[in-house]
Amino acid sequence: MSVERAGETVPETVVEEIRELPKRFQPGSRSAVMPALDLVQEELGYLTPAAMSQVAEALEIDPGYVEGVASFYSLFHLEPVGKHHFYVCNNLSCQLRGAEEILTHLKDAIGVGEYGEISQDGLFSCEPVECLGACEYAPVLRYHHRFHYDLTDAAVDKLIAAARGKRRDGKD
Ligand code: FES
Repeated sequence: MSVERAGETVPETVVEEIRELPKRFQPGSRSAVMPALDLVQEELGYLTPAAMSQVAEALEIDPGYVEGVASFYSLFHLEPVGKHHFYVCNNLSCQLRGAEEILTHLKDAIGVGEYGEISQDGLFSCEPVECLGACEYAPVLRYHHRFHYDLTDAAVDKLIAAARGKRRDGKD
């Protein structure tokens, strides 16, 4: 099933926002690339080639640099993902505290067989990632820019139920 997306290109309002970023992220335009890509991903769900060109143009930098940043960081997606995408840390501390089991539970709960696969309803996807920098609270996941600590299967189920509830209420 296809995932609803705003389109392949970034709306002008977002481009305007991107043009303003270098003022806040000194010393220059290159420092604004990550926040700019974040804005684009928030808008489109993933980074299309056209959108990355728009970022380069808005920040007046080399498109190759933007693509390099986008492809280097696993938090950026060059392919579509579910509307609700879970990043589960699978590094040592989290592994020792059950990250593998959490990932298996999460895949079953959202109904996908592989990482990166999108659920039938287009809502969910997940992937294991490297250390999220909160090892003392392992296992950890990142979801819609927020971190969730000391994960359990029940906590994961709650996040999924809340996401489904939002959709029914038409709030998301
Ligand atoms: S190992 Fe999971 S947050 Fe560091």
